[in-house]
Amino acid sequence: MKLWGLVFLSTAILSLFTVSTHAAEALHRIQWTKSEVESLRGLWIGSIAKTPADKTNGVADNARAARFGHRLFFDTRLSSDGQVACATCHLPALAFTDGRKLARGVGTSGRNTMTIIGAAYSPWLFWDGRKDSLWSQALGPMESVVEHGGDRVQYAHLVSKDAQYRAEYESLFGPLPDLSNAIRFPSSAGPVDDDLRRAAWENMAPRDRTSISTIFANLGKAIAAYERLLAPSSSQFDHYVKAILTKDAVLAKSIMSRDEEAGLRLFIGPGRCIQCHNSPLMTNNSFHNIGLADPEHPPPDKGRLIGVKQVLRDEFNCRSRHSDDQSASCRELDFIKISDPHFDRGFKTPTLRNVSKTAPYMHDGRFSTLGTALRHYNKAPRQPVGQTELTPLDFNKKELSQLEKFLRTLSSAPDVEPFWLEPPEN
Ligand code: HEC
Ligand code: HEC
Repeated sequence: MKLWGLVFLSTAILSLFTVSTHAAEALHRIQWTKSEVESLRGLWIGSIAKTPADKTNGVADNARAARFGHRLFFDTRLSSDGQVACATCHLPALAFTDGRKLARGVGTSGRNTMTIIGAAYSPWLFWDGRKDSLWSQALGPMESVVEHGGDRVQYAHLVSKDAQYRAEYESLFGPLPDLSNAIRFPSSAGPVDDDLRRAAWENMAPRDRTSISTIFANLGKAIAAYERLLAPSSSQFDHYVKAILTKDAVLAKSIMSRDEEAGLRLFIGPGRCIQCHNSPLMTNNSFHNIGLADPEHPPPDKGRLIGVKQVLRDEFNCRSRHSDDQSASCRELDFIKISDPHFDRGFKTPTLRNVSKTAPYMHDGRFSTLGTALRHYNKAPRQPVGQTELTPLDFNKKELSQLEKFLRTLSSAPDVEPFWLEPPEN
């Protein structure tokens, strides 16, 4: 008996000792200064604000509109060849990107597909910010000759002829106009990059053009209501920060490895990443030139330099007749920064949430892996045109791999019922 007691006691002491060394190691590993803890809190999902209201979209937070938008998002009839939907390029399984260098719809786009998760937080949409709302953004790909390839009159006919769409549309936006007169409303017309359809559009009466454009804008508003649901949820990184904020060092250690944690230190410290990738979405929603101009492969993509002009004259911007809040001041447009030395070849800082799923990287998809993207930051080559904002990091191989491991902790599916991430059932 005595012997057993002794054995029991010593095992207990031993395990107590192991627990306390674990705790000691955890405490040793997780020492963040006060200001570092504040940086972590700033990036934490727990600090995210409510989805910003969009008064220009009267159905932004309407559940029926989101259901209608969900259908539209997956509907390949919204294209010139019946093959392309938003979901062709924005695949839920790839954090709403497509895994391609350059997006492919009915043709090939000049840019890489962006994620939609968290896009409702962004004041400017697209890599160059040429749209100022989610709903006006959605109209772009629908009339792009390399993406959906269709046009607004075609889409209006689709909604008018499909009984379910008609009912859903009318319950949200009121009665559809009668589009049955084929002379007034040809089967295909719109201000698209196609001579025939553009001429047909210009031949239409201004009033008829306005009623078609209103239907078109409303489709964008329903799609935006759906996209607004796609907010990010807690990732491995967020669980870690929560443990740090509640001072649970042992839990924190069980959530992130030593390397992931070291990578996080580089991210908020010597890597200077949070200069641009800050806030819970890890973007400052601003435009920067990070030295990616490629004079070998024209035509040059001037990014924000052009985007700023396009958004100001966009027919669907916040100041347009299609906004649902005519009294709203358009703060973003009113205070838009027109020029900045970094706008030439400057692009929007993308969110880094889900970055392990959104390869290839950058506006032109030039880096096929995270590792190669990070090597760019490490070298920060001189920019042949424009002006880069980066300076070399000179991290060693191990540090680069730690940074990459940290970036891989940022994945999490949107915080919605799973059916929103699949094509609608009916
Ligand atoms: C052919 C592929 C393709 C299709 C189809 C497509 N997109 Fe995109 N999407 C892209 C590309 C490429 C970009 C970036 C384009 C750019 O910057 O010029 C983008 C950008 C976006 C953005 C901007 C995200 C941000 O943070 O700025 C949103 C939102 C979006 N798409 C939603 C949609 C919706 C809604 C549809 C359907 C109406 C759609 N897309 C159809 C490829 C596509
Ligand atoms: C000066 C602002 C700035 C800083 C600092 C910065 N970034 Fe970026 N980041 C950007 C911009 C802008 C882009 C998009 C550039 C483009 O496509 O032309 C980008 C793109 C990326 C991408 C590609 C994401 C995608 O979806 O394509 C990754 C990964 C990334 N940054 C990680 C980092 C890391 C890690 C650091 C710190 C070592 C960092 N960034 C520092 C502004 C910055």
